[in-house]
Amino acid sequence: MSALTTALYDVIERRRDVRAEFTGSPVADDVLMRVLGAAHRAPSVGLSQPWDFVVVRDTATRRVFRDHVAHERDTFAASLPPERRSTFDRIKVEGICESSLGIVVTHSQSRGGQHVLGRHAIADAGLYSTVLAIQNLWLAATAEGLGLGWVSFYREDFLQGLLGIPDDVRPVAWLCLGTVSHLATVPDLERHGWRSRRPLADAIHHDTWQMKERNRA
Ligand SMILES: Cc1cc2nc3c(=O)[nH]c(=O)nc-3n(C[C@H](O)[C@H](O)[C@H](O)COP(=O)(O)O)c2cc1C
Repeated sequence: MSALTTALYDVIERRRDVRAEFTGSPVADDVLMRVLGAAHRAPSVGLSQPWDFVVVRDTATRRVFRDHVAHERDTFAASLPPERRSTFDRIKVEGICESSLGIVVTHSQSRGGQHVLGRHAIADAGLYSTVLAIQNLWLAATAEGLGLGWVSFYREDFLQGLLGIPDDVRPVAWLCLGTVSHLATVPDLERHGWRSRRPLADAIHHDTWQMKERNRA
């Protein structure tokens, strides 16, 4: 393998969803711009580039969002049976105020006009594009030695109101970005016994959904 290949797989392997390891030091502007630049180079259906990035540094705004997320965390916790609840209670689901800053990634389905090439049959292809921008951002942050945590414990209309996001623009993710003490080697949810990663072989099918063994004939 070339050094470039090894480096890429290494970043993919090291990437982690971060909640507890943020140290809160500032992220230099040139680093932030590189990470956002990586997000902005993502592929997008019909070159629609449906994403925008709201960089949230304001402490008061972050506190308000953190309180909203705490409420949504309680709502989810209340839906759980007792043994799942006690596992969930030990899991931290956000690092909104502990991270260096927040990046809210939004999706505009109207970006690119009425005739988005490749989206006529699958409306979600637009959303897929925005999610790819997030993945680029996540990997670039990891390569820069930063941590990133995706927060989805929120109501979209609440976040739209908090940040003045137009009604037809969806906030897809609040990303906590920042300096970290280290990146864990095992996902938090696995470490806390919430859920484990599936083996790759379980996810691979050959020719049809039913075919789990490769047909060697
Ligand atoms: C769409 C999406 C939403 C997520 N929302 C949250 C969240 O609200 N809180 C949280 O702690 N982790 C969240 N995560 C992180 C996942 O829990 C994490 O990716 C998964 O457990 C695997 O861990 P890893 O990313 O460290 O490999 C989210 C991840 C994705 C892709």
